[in-house]
Amino acid sequence: MRLDKYLSKRTSFSRNDIKKLAASKKICVNNIIALKADMNINEETDNITINNLPVRKEEFLTLLMNKPDGYISATEDKIEKTVIDLLPKEFQRQNLSPVGRLDKDTTGLLLLTNDGNMLHDLTSPKKHIPKYYKASLAEKFTPKAAELIANGITLKDGTKCRPAKAVAISDDAFEIIICINEGKYHQVKRMLAATGNHVESLSRIAIGEFIIPQDLPAGSIRIMTDKDLCKVFKTQDIFLSLVNLFRKCSS
Ligand code: URA
Repeated sequence: MRLDKYLSKRTSFSRNDIKKLAASKKICVNNIIALKADMNINEETDNITINNLPVRKEEFLTLLMNKPDGYISATEDKIEKTVIDLLPKEFQRQNLSPVGRLDKDTTGLLLLTNDGNMLHDLTSPKKHIPKYYKASLAEKFTPKAAELIANGITLKDGTKCRPAKAVAISDDAFEIIICINEGKYHQVKRMLAATGNHVESLSRIAIGEFIIPQDLPAGSIRIMTDKDLCKVFKTQDIFLSLVNLFRKCSS
């Protein structure tokens, strides 16, 4: 296959960019500078680098990020810092997009992928993949609020939500875990607002049966393995495991 064709599939460089990179000696094939963008390469066996960074051989890549506060879930923005800005250089030009959106001030589990089918499957409103969040609230979480949420709460603008589940995890009932299986704009914050409460901080802790690794620092990433990805698409209720993992006693 031609080098420029291969690189335009595997990276976000255009064929024109690749031509320029080759002319400025930034591309190597098996440690030898590739001067011509139209040279032939063996995509299975050749090792290609751009600016000394390896170009991955696998067609698809999915990363998991522990998203920190203050970054928007977009690929680029003229004003705000995006989650792509947090990626190590070798992942910055790999056509990765955030899977769904976390608000700028929401932290936790965010997937980034260049697999369009997976992006579609995970964000499709028809799939109902459960997403679990931990929220700190301004007011105590009441049994009445839990009931409203369980019955499918109506938001202040009249939008009806699907039945969801929320449980207090701190003795003072200011912290909850909530599971939703749809993705309306600011959904968790608006659901809690509809119960007369206010979300002070929000973190996504699991998608499907995949739980964010507890040892992953904010702003860091890991590559999702096939096993991890299978868990994302499983829909068994993992509420109890999450409550046990995140349960807090307040003194
Ligand atoms: N619900 C929200 O309100 N915000 C998020 O970022 C995710 C879910």
